[in-house]
Amino acid sequence: MLSQAKILPIERDMDIITARTYVRDLARALGFGPIDQVRIATAVSELARNIYLYAQVGTVTSRPLERNGRRGIEIEFRDQGPGIGDLDLAMQDGYSTSLRIGMGLPGAKRLMDEFEIRSADGVGTTIICHKWLA
Ligand SMILES: Nc1ncnc2c1ncn2[C@@H]1O[C@H](COP(=O)(O)OP(=O)(O)OP(=O)(O)O)[C@@H](O)[C@H]1O
Ligand SMILES: [Mg+2]
Repeated sequence: MLSQAKILPIERDMDIITARTYVRDLARALGFGPIDQVRIATAVSELARNIYLYAQVGTVTSRPLERNGRRGIEIEFRDQGPGIGDLDLAMQDGYSTSLRIGMGLPGAKRLMDEFEIRSADGVGTTIICHKWLA
Protein backbone atom coordinates (compact mmCIF):
# COMPACT_ATOMS: atom_id res chain seq x y z
CA MET A 1 0.00 0.00 0.00
CA LEU A 2 2.75 2.42 0.91
CA SER A 3 5.01 2.24 -2.08
CA GLN A 4 2.93 2.84 -5.16
CA ALA A 5 0.38 5.26 -6.55
CA LYS A 6 -3.27 4.45 -6.10
CA ILE A 7 -5.68 5.74 -8.72
CA LEU A 8 -9.27 6.13 -7.56
CA PRO A 9 -12.06 6.99 -10.00
CA ILE A 10 -14.56 9.74 -9.22
CA GLU A 11 -17.78 8.92 -11.00
CA ARG A 12 -20.48 9.07 -8.39
CA ASP A 13 -21.21 10.71 -5.06
CA MET A 14 -19.96 7.73 -3.03
CA ASP A 15 -16.54 7.85 -4.71
CA ILE A 16 -15.84 11.15 -2.92
CA ILE A 17 -16.10 9.37 0.44
CA THR A 18 -14.02 6.43 -0.79
CA ALA A 19 -11.23 8.78 -1.96
CA ARG A 20 -11.37 10.78 1.28
CA THR A 21 -11.11 7.63 3.38
CA TYR A 22 -8.36 6.03 1.30
CA VAL A 23 -6.16 9.13 1.34
CA ARG A 24 -6.74 9.74 5.06
CA ASP A 25 -5.68 6.16 5.79
CA LEU A 26 -2.59 6.54 3.60
CA ALA A 27 -1.72 9.78 5.41
CA ARG A 28 -2.04 8.02 8.76
CA ALA A 29 0.11 5.11 7.56
CA LEU A 30 2.77 7.60 6.43
CA GLY A 31 2.92 9.12 9.89
CA PHE A 32 0.69 12.20 9.67
CA GLY A 33 -0.98 13.12 12.94
CA PRO A 34 -4.75 13.40 13.43
CA ILE A 35 -4.96 17.11 12.63
CA ASP A 36 -3.02 16.78 9.38
CA GLN A 37 -5.11 13.71 8.50
CA VAL A 38 -8.22 15.88 8.76
CA ARG A 39 -6.63 18.69 6.72
CA ILE A 40 -5.65 16.28 3.97
CA ALA A 41 -9.01 14.47 4.02
CA THR A 42 -10.87 17.79 3.82
CA ALA A 43 -8.85 18.94 0.82
CA VAL A 44 -9.54 15.60 -0.89
CA SER A 45 -13.29 15.93 -0.25
CA GLU A 46 -13.40 19.43 -1.69
CA LEU A 47 -11.35 18.71 -4.80
CA ALA A 48 -13.00 15.35 -5.50
CA ARG A 49 -16.40 17.03 -5.09
CA ASN A 50 -15.37 19.66 -7.61
CA ILE A 51 -14.55 16.89 -10.09
CA TYR A 52 -17.94 15.30 -9.50
CA LEU A 53 -19.85 18.62 -9.70
CA TYR A 54 -18.10 20.32 -12.59
CA ALA A 55 -16.47 17.58 -14.68
CA GLN A 56 -18.66 14.59 -13.65
CA VAL A 57 -15.77 12.15 -14.05
CA GLY A 58 -12.10 12.14 -13.08
CA THR A 59 -9.48 10.54 -10.87
CA VAL A 60 -7.75 11.05 -7.52
CA THR A 61 -4.24 9.62 -7.41
CA SER A 62 -2.30 9.48 -4.17
CA ARG A 63 1.24 8.37 -3.42
CA PRO A 64 3.96 8.71 -0.83
CA LEU A 65 6.56 11.38 -1.52
CA GLU A 66 10.24 11.59 -0.76
CA ARG A 67 12.35 14.63 -1.68
CA ASN A 68 15.66 15.79 -0.19
CA GLY A 69 15.22 13.48 2.76
CA ARG A 70 11.73 14.78 3.52
CA ARG A 71 8.70 12.57 3.37
CA GLY A 72 5.14 13.43 2.59
CA ILE A 73 2.13 12.71 0.43
CA GLU A 74 1.18 13.72 -3.09
CA ILE A 75 -2.40 13.85 -4.29
CA GLU A 76 -3.32 14.53 -7.90
CA PHE A 77 -6.83 15.42 -9.09
CA ARG A 78 -7.41 15.05 -12.79
CA ASP A 79 -10.43 15.55 -15.00
CA GLN A 80 -11.21 16.23 -18.63
CA GLY A 81 -14.19 18.42 -17.89
CA PRO A 82 -14.93 21.99 -19.05
CA GLY A 83 -11.87 23.48 -17.32
CA ILE A 84 -11.73 26.70 -15.32
CA GLY A 85 -11.86 29.85 -17.44
CA ASP A 86 -10.29 32.29 -14.98
CA LEU A 87 -7.99 30.57 -12.50
CA ASP A 88 -7.16 33.74 -10.54
CA LEU A 89 -10.85 34.32 -9.99
CA ALA A 90 -11.59 30.68 -9.11
CA MET A 91 -8.83 30.73 -6.47
CA GLN A 92 -10.46 33.67 -4.65
CA ASP A 93 -12.47 33.07 -1.49
CA GLY A 94 -16.17 33.20 -2.23
CA TYR A 95 -16.03 32.79 -6.01
CA SER A 96 -18.55 30.20 -7.21
CA THR A 97 -20.33 29.60 -10.48
CA SER A 98 -22.87 27.42 -8.74
CA LEU A 99 -24.13 29.64 -5.89
CA ARG A 100 -22.09 27.63 -3.45
CA ILE A 101 -19.76 29.00 -0.79
CA GLY A 102 -16.79 29.19 -3.12
CA MET A 103 -14.20 28.03 -0.60
CA GLY A 104 -13.25 24.64 -2.03
CA LEU A 105 -10.22 25.62 -4.11
CA PRO A 106 -8.74 28.36 -1.86
CA GLY A 107 -9.50 26.30 1.24
CA ALA A 108 -7.77 23.20 -0.16
CA LYS A 109 -4.74 25.32 -1.09
CA ARG A 110 -4.45 26.56 2.49
CA LEU A 111 -4.77 23.05 3.90
CA MET A 112 -1.89 21.71 1.82
CA ASP A 113 1.77 22.81 1.70
CA GLU A 114 2.12 22.97 -2.08
CA PHE A 115 -0.69 23.39 -4.57
CA GLU A 116 -0.35 23.53 -8.34
CA ILE A 117 -3.33 23.94 -10.62
CA ARG A 118 -3.49 23.74 -14.40
CA SER A 119 -6.67 24.18 -16.32
CA ALA A 120 -7.73 25.02 -19.83
CA ASP A 121 -11.10 25.55 -21.42
CA GLY A 122 -12.35 22.32 -22.89
CA VAL A 123 -9.26 20.35 -21.86
CA GLY A 124 -9.87 19.84 -18.17
CA THR A 125 -8.26 20.51 -14.84
CA THR A 126 -5.28 19.00 -13.03
CA ILE A 127 -4.37 19.83 -9.45
CA ILE A 128 -1.27 18.42 -7.77
CA CYS A 129 -0.80 19.03 -4.08
CA HIS A 130 1.77 18.02 -1.51
CA LYS A 131 1.80 17.84 2.25
CA TRP A 132 5.08 17.27 4.11
CA LEU A 133 5.63 15.54 7.39
CA ALA A 134 6.86 17.97 10.03
N1 LIG B 1 -12.64 20.52 -11.62
C1 LIG B 1 -13.27 21.64 -12.03
N2 LIG B 1 -13.69 21.77 -13.32
C2 LIG B 1 -14.30 22.90 -13.74
N3 LIG B 1 -14.57 23.96 -12.96
C3 LIG B 1 -14.19 23.89 -11.67
C4 LIG B 1 -13.53 22.74 -11.14
N4 LIG B 1 -13.26 22.97 -9.83
C5 LIG B 1 -13.73 24.20 -9.57
N5 LIG B 1 -14.29 24.76 -10.67
C6 LIG B 1 -14.85 26.13 -10.79
O1 LIG B 1 -14.24 26.96 -9.81
C7 LIG B 1 -15.24 27.54 -8.97
C8 LIG B 1 -14.68 27.65 -7.55
O2 LIG B 1 -14.50 26.34 -6.98
P1 LIG B 1 -14.59 26.17 -5.40
O3 LIG B 1 -14.47 24.73 -5.08
O4 LIG B 1 -13.63 27.11 -4.78
O5 LIG B 1 -16.05 26.69 -5.07
P2 LIG B 1 -17.47 25.99 -5.29
O6 LIG B 1 -17.31 24.56 -5.71
O7 LIG B 1 -18.27 26.86 -6.22
O8 LIG B 1 -18.09 26.08 -3.83
P3 LIG B 1 -17.70 25.18 -2.54
O9 LIG B 1 -16.52 24.33 -2.95
O10 LIG B 1 -17.33 26.16 -1.47
O11 LIG B 1 -18.91 24.38 -2.25
C9 LIG B 1 -16.45 26.63 -9.11
O12 LIG B 1 -17.66 27.34 -8.84
C10 LIG B 1 -16.35 26.20 -10.55
O13 LIG B 1 -16.86 27.18 -11.42
MG1 LIG C 1 -16.01 23.29 -4.65
